[in-house]
Parts: sequence; C-alpha cells; structure tokens
Amino acid sequence: MKFNIALLPGDGIGPEVVDQAVKAVNAVCKKFGHEATFTKGLVGACAIDATGDPFPEDTFQICLKSDAVLFGAVGDPRFDNNPTAKVRPENGLLAMRKKLGLYANLRPMETYKSLIDKSPLKPELVDGAEFLCVRELTGGMYFGEKGRRDNGNTAYDTNIYSREEVERILKLAFEYAQRRRKHLTVVDKANVLESSRLWREVAQEMAPKYPDVTTDYMFVDNAAMKIVTMPKFFDVLVTENTFGDILTDEASVIAGSMGLLASASIGLHTSLFEPIHGSYPQAAGKNIANPLATILSAAMMFEYAFGLMEEGKAIRQAVTASIEEGFVTEDLANGAAAHSTSEVGDWVAAHI
Ligand code: IPM
Ligand code: MN
Repeated sequence: MKFNIALLPGDGIGPEVVDQAVKAVNAVCKKFGHEATFTKGLVGACAIDATGDPFPEDTFQICLKSDAVLFGAVGDPRFDNNPTAKVRPENGLLAMRKKLGLYANLRPMETYKSLIDKSPLKPELVDGAEFLCVRELTGGMYFGEKGRRDNGNTAYDTNIYSREEVERILKLAFEYAQRRRKHLTVVDKANVLESSRLWREVAQEMAPKYPDVTTDYMFVDNAAMKIVTMPKFFDVLVTENTFGDILTDEASVIAGSMGLLASASIGLHTSLFEPIHGSYPQAAGKNIANPLATILSAAMMFEYAFGLMEEGKAIRQAVTASIEEGFVTEDLANGAAAHSTSEVGDWVAAHI
C-alpha cells in the first residue's frame, strides 16, 4: 500500500519523538513492502510564532489530503503563565479536533509485566489490567458556549451534548466492546447533570442492540476510585470530553510511565495518532524523552487507519522487546544505563 502521512511534530519534545516514530514507520514499510510519504505541518506554539495561528489553514489542508496524521505534542510555558494570552498552543489542538471532526479519542491502558514495579499501585492490582478509554472529543464543556458577565466577575462554560453526538460515540464504544471482552462501562454524573441524563438515556436505548455486551453505568466519582482500586474491572469505558480528560490522565499512571501510552482520535475525516503525554518543555532538545508512546501511536495508525494488524503488531513486538531488554530512556531505566531518545528509536527500527 501507499500512504500519505501528515507529520505534525508540534512543540517541546514533539519533534524528537515523532522522528523516532517515522523510523519505525519506515522500517515497517520496508519489511511489508509499503510506501510512506510524509508531509510536515506546523501546529501549536511553533505555528503561532511562524504564522500567528496555532492551527494554520496550510496545516489543515495537509491533514485533509493525508491518509493519517501523526502528531507529537503542543504547549509552551511562555503561554501557560500568561492568563491573558489571546491565542494559545492548545487552541491549535482544539481547532484541529473540531475541524477534522475527531469525535472519538481512544486511549488504551496497557501494562507491561517487566514494568509492574514502576506502577504506583500494588502489583496484584495491575498485573493483567488492560482497558480502553473512549473519550468524546468534540463536544461538552470544551466547545459549549463560554464567557464572562458582571464585568468579568462571573464566568461560565456550558456542558452541552446533542443526542446525535452521544449516539455516535456510544455506537463506537459498543462496537469496540464487541471486539474485546464485551463489557462496556458508561461513565457519567447522571445523579446531578442533565447532560449526563441524556447520555444515560441514549445508552439505555442502545444497549439492547448489543445483547452480547454487558453494559453498566457508573458515576464519574466512583469510576475515578475504581480505576485505581480495581483497574481489572474495566474493559471499555466511555465518557464525555471533560470526564474523559481527567480519567485518562488517572488511568495513564497505572502502567508506570506516561511515556508508554498511545492514542488515536478518529472521526469524520483523517484520523490522528498521538502520544498521551504533553510537550515536556524541560526535556526539549535534550534527546532524553521516551519515544515509545509515539512509536506505539504509529502502531495504532497501521491498525486503526490502514487496517494492517500485522504491521501494528511488528511495532508493538519491537517496543515490548526494547522494554524487556532494558534498552530504554531514563524514565524506565531503573538504575541501569539509560539510552537516548534517538538510540531507542534506532533500536526499535532495527528490531522491526
Ligand atoms: C489532552 C490534553 C488537552 C485536553 C489539552 C492540551 C487541551 O490535556 O489531550 O488530554 O484537555 O484535551
Ligand atoms: Mn488531558
């Protein structure tokens, strides 16, 4: 096959980790006889610096013309500490999600046996835990009407969802559950929030269409507790944008390092693949960041965007091997000699 891949490295460590994922993609293409071409675009703080816009029209067009987007991270401390900044790198990410219609964010939580002692949880809780968070990504409080009144002294954000938005994300979640262990947990706050009551109503209407799936409903506060006390309870967890943002950060620490978790955002146009971690500005340019989450995002790209499971597996096996053999960056090195970002990228590509 031939693929056009849009590369959006973004800010901070983004460019370094995306470079390593490109090595893995090229290695897989060589092994399986595919051809990948890459087109780079600007997003985030680097795009603001160059054009004034965190998601410029050029970048949008590059994404639309590609078969998949591989994304690094956005964010820059110059903006974080300035609450009056009119435009922020994160606006680029939100604009990209909205314009590309990326309504479903898939964040798998996976654990690696050799890293179980890195987890803040007891080994027996973590060993064998593996679940998929499906986060709605283009609705809710992130995009609902927001503003100030009373001379700026009162502020509001509206958590708004339409039936159609809820249905399309739940449909995906039910389908992923069918392909996995057939257990779906719908997370909401239906004891308080009207938007959550709509979610639950729609889910209860849809559940009978998926009789092979066991569906349960859980309030978000309870889910937050269960993720760290009983992570093995979950198979597929689906929730709205804001709850999903929080719960996926919580879930990400279970594996022992945020540097290991990949994600896919899929929807109406081109799908996007990115590590869960941010731009880690303190490490930018130092060649120390863990590239494995971005490399695993490339694996998800083969699986979810191109339907090439063997290719995805080849990347996953190489990543697992690098962890098991201890050829890893400092966050995972456990007192042993740490390798640089680019050395780990070369090792994984060579292993593929
Ligand atoms: C994420 C991030 C973003 C979000 C920020 C950077 C806007 O935290 O992808 O989870 O809140 O969605
Ligand atoms: Mn987040």
